[in-house]
Amino acid sequence: MIELGLEPKPTPLALLLLGKDADPDSEKGVECPGSLPEASDPGLVARALAAKARLGERVFILGHHYQRNEVIAFADVTGDSFKLAQQAAAHPNAEYIVFCGVHFMAESADILTADNQQVVLPDMAAGCSMADMAAINQVEACWDVLKAAGIADVTVPVTYMNSTAAIKSFTGRNGGTVCTSSNAKQSLQWAFAQGEKVLFLPDQHLGRNTAVLELGLSLDDCVLFNPLLPNGGLTVEQLRSAKMILWRGHCSVHARFTTKAINDVRERVPGVQVIVHPECTFEVVSEADVVGSTEAIIAAISASPPGSAWAVGTELNLVKRLAQDFPEQEIVFLDHSVCFCATMNRIDLPHLVWALESLADGTLVNQITVDPETSRWAKVALDRMLALPGPSGLKD
Ligand code: 13P
Ligand code: SF4
Repeated sequence: MIELGLEPKPTPLALLLLGKDADPDSEKGVECPGSLPEASDPGLVARALAAKARLGERVFILGHHYQRNEVIAFADVTGDSFKLAQQAAAHPNAEYIVFCGVHFMAESADILTADNQQVVLPDMAAGCSMADMAAINQVEACWDVLKAAGIADVTVPVTYMNSTAAIKSFTGRNGGTVCTSSNAKQSLQWAFAQGEKVLFLPDQHLGRNTAVLELGLSLDDCVLFNPLLPNGGLTVEQLRSAKMILWRGHCSVHARFTTKAINDVRERVPGVQVIVHPECTFEVVSEADVVGSTEAIIAAISASPPGSAWAVGTELNLVKRLAQDFPEQEIVFLDHSVCFCATMNRIDLPHLVWALESLADGTLVNQITVDPETSRWAKVALDRMLALPGPSGLKD
């Protein structure tokens, strides 16, 4: 039996970027009541099926595309962050929403679901290192810097879905919105119709890629705000002349893809098309043939004719599944130095079985809750996003 965790913890990388010492417990998982089935238990699939059947329509399971196959097999719906947020809101009759994804996604589901619905994250250690790179006190301090520079009134805060509920709430309270990788263009167009500048949190790459490659801003219109430096490391003049103030955050999985890997695969695989997620760097996204959210990547590959060759720059579970689901295409991983998202991978079949059996036995475990005040303003921001025109890819 393995002990389970209760609280999400910042990843070691995030702690490093926030200037804190690494948490010695973070690699071990965190404590929690209850016991987890062994991964070697041959009855896991049967147990998951039985627990799901006992719960019937009381449970709805959401699975992000980066989840393992063993977990995806039990999802009622799979999707990118945008689709899963919509789906969470679209099932008001389910008592339990079991979110097979990461913490910020489950928080958003809690905000978008009714008070009588409970959201469960099968492993509380499933966080996101990018979301951990923007703490609410840092964002409030940044806003004070913008106020002191006299630009807060004309700046619209936009946060990527991959951020805490507190930051979504901040954007709601300050006239801003949320975006996902599938609607960043529409969110930024909306934001620039409300104000002159955007403070984009926490993914510098998605912000820069969308502003420059989709909206036609120049790289000189963008500045990088480093929360660890006084005034973000920027002068008042730099802040006043910028259009996009990008938070210094990134995805540690996607930032590893390189233009060298693109050049190498183009030499290795004749006729290959390179398709990447917009969390990749500006250089990589500029070089790619197609860019889009996880859902858009799947759609592009599934719509391509047999014999097409694709090099995919996103998380490995999804790329492996694409290769398996589309055997008539040649699907390769863009860069072999990049691997699974460690936190997405925390959700495995033993955790799912444990969560479902606990719920079926009447014990609510690993509930994700957002306090009412945070939730109120975060919902304002999320509803603004959901009201925008539908998602689109970045470039194709
Ligand atoms: P999508 O919304 O494209 O699924 O991306 C979520 C994510 O975390 C990518 O790293
Ligand atoms: Fe976060 Fe990156 Fe993992 Fe997505 S792939 S959940 S952004 S760490």
